[in-house]
Amino acid sequence: MSLANFIVFPDLGDSRGSLVVMDDLAGLPFKIRRAYYLFGSGIKESRGFHAHKTLHQVAVCISGACKMVLDDGEVRDEFRLNSPFRAIELPPLVWHEMHEFSEDCVLLVLADNYYDEADYLRNYEDFLERVSV
Ligand code: TYD
Repeated sequence: MSLANFIVFPDLGDSRGSLVVMDDLAGLPFKIRRAYYLFGSGIKESRGFHAHKTLHQVAVCISGACKMVLDDGEVRDEFRLNSPFRAIELPPLVWHEMHEFSEDCVLLVLADNYYDEADYLRNYEDFLERVSV
């Protein structure tokens, strides 16, 4: 079974250009409490390498592309994020890594809660132990 859960948002734009709205009314699985974005990572940089205990997130490349690796402790899958209309869900207890950022990549992440370092599982062995119980 694939770990990918994509959420596709419609283009509300017109002849002047595109417009995309991301909120729970448009299909997000939560109300947004925090948004952050990653950019300026070179093609050789990798980020992430953690899971969250409870945080639920959605990630979308609003510009450019990157590779998202998801791992639930049993299945490891990789996906190309390359559309501002298609977001991928990052549920709790799914290890995620981002690789191969294009030069123009802006990765927007929407989260259901505030930043909390205590919610991170940054060690892969600890993560595996957590998901195997
Ligand atoms: P981290 O989540 O480890 O980044 P990535 O998964 O992209 O590699 O965050 C990097 C640093 O930024 C870390 O020291 C925590 C800090 N940070 C905040 O202070 N607030 C935030 O909302 C986020 C996402 C990170």
